Amino acid sequence: MLSFKGKDLYVENVKLSDIAKKFGTSTYVYSKNQLIKNFQNYKNALTKDGIICFACKTNSNAAILKILAKLGAGADTTSGGEIYRCLKAGFNPSKIVYAGVGKTAEEIEYALKNKILMFNVESLEELDLIDKIAGKLKVKAKIAFRINPHVDPDTHSYITTGKKGTKFGIAYDDAVNAYVTAKKKKNIIISGIHSHIGSQILETKSFALAAKKINKIVKDVEANGINIEYIDCGGGLGIEYVKGEKPATPKQLMSEIFPLFDKDKKFIFEPGRSITASAGHLLAKVIYRKISGGKSFLITDAGMNDLIRPSFYDAYHEIIPIKRTSAKKVKTDVVGPICESSDFMGKDRMLPVVEQGGCLLIKDAGAYGAAMSSQYNSRPLLAEVLVDGNKATLIKRRAAYEDLLLNETSSK
Ligand SMILES: Cc1ncc(COP(=O)(O)O)c(C=O)c1O
Repeated sequence: MLSFKGKDLYVENVKLSDIAKKFGTSTYVYSKNQLIKNFQNYKNALTKDGIICFACKTNSNAAILKILAKLGAGADTTSGGEIYRCLKAGFNPSKIVYAGVGKTAEEIEYALKNKILMFNVESLEELDLIDKIAGKLKVKAKIAFRINPHVDPDTHSYITTGKKGTKFGIAYDDAVNAYVTAKKKKNIIISGIHSHIGSQILETKSFALAAKKINKIVKDVEANGINIEYIDCGGGLGIEYVKGEKPATPKQLMSEIFPLFDKDKKFIFEPGRSITASAGHLLAKVIYRKISGGKSFLITDAGMNDLIRPSFYDAYHEIIPIKRTSAKKVKTDVVGPICESSDFMGKDRMLPVVEQGGCLLIKDAGAYGAAMSSQYNSRPLLAEVLVDGNKATLIKRRAAYEDLLLNETSSK
């Protein structure tokens, strides 16, 4: 919900230059109504019994989580900390699923005590530990196996998870045996099957291919007298980072997947990026401009510690000035202040010459943005602001220098 009104760029009905004035820069700015719209797209597409479990790794700000919990979302979590955040935000534990290749005993115990819906189990050793801890607590643990379907979607290798040889899940060929083993465990209830093949996937064909392979396992498992209630299809739908990209919609995705399974199945989807990415942007100020070695640079107060995606995955975020100008466009690198050559927000962008102190918006940074930020170079974490109509509310205060020393015992 970004638009120019006159010369000014707005998020919903709030001028970004007003946000910069009031809250400072750099700042993550979210649109509440874009977030709601993105979630409703999934909810409306879910014509079968099931749950949309928001992948909270993409953005775990308490205010964002609360909005989604209120809309009836479930949560896909990957750590005890995420489960804690989701419970605090009001998610119903019976809608929380928990994946991750390295769940610790403490995390498993925490999840069991809080009665989550199910563990998406990624190895037989993990299954043993869950069974043991459930026995100690005198409870039954509901599980799905995360199956690696050996499907290679068209996306960046770092966010490909369903390909043969990645660390994720139980290998396709071992899936049926894993279920047969789980059936013998005293404290385990088999509830479902899970797969997540990767992220920023624009088309549906890899999802459909994975779903077909998963259904084959379901049939084989059910032939062994084991009932599979939930088909958890993971997340992974992409968004339009680059103008002209045409990501499939939740409706297109689900209408390909539903007919592949028996009618009585319940479904879980775990979207993350496609809910939060386009609902958030990074507002940064140009501190300096320079020309060096024949190249033009805009140096912003946002660095790779604030938004690591460009450095980490060579990810593309559109960058636009928040004031419309008729200034001539120049090929420019937008870089941060950190002492690493990989500290850039965008390279070779055609941008108007922005004045010193002017602001840029690094678009679609609501997923894997603030959530992946760090204090590298001892840079305090950023402020986060939520816009709802014409109201802008601070949902995370900008950290101060003292916060940098908060947990360091010799700092007093
Ligand atoms: C198990 C699982 N589910 C869901 C997601 C969310 O993926 P996306 O943000 O691409 O929708 C991830 C992301 O890594 C994941 O690992």
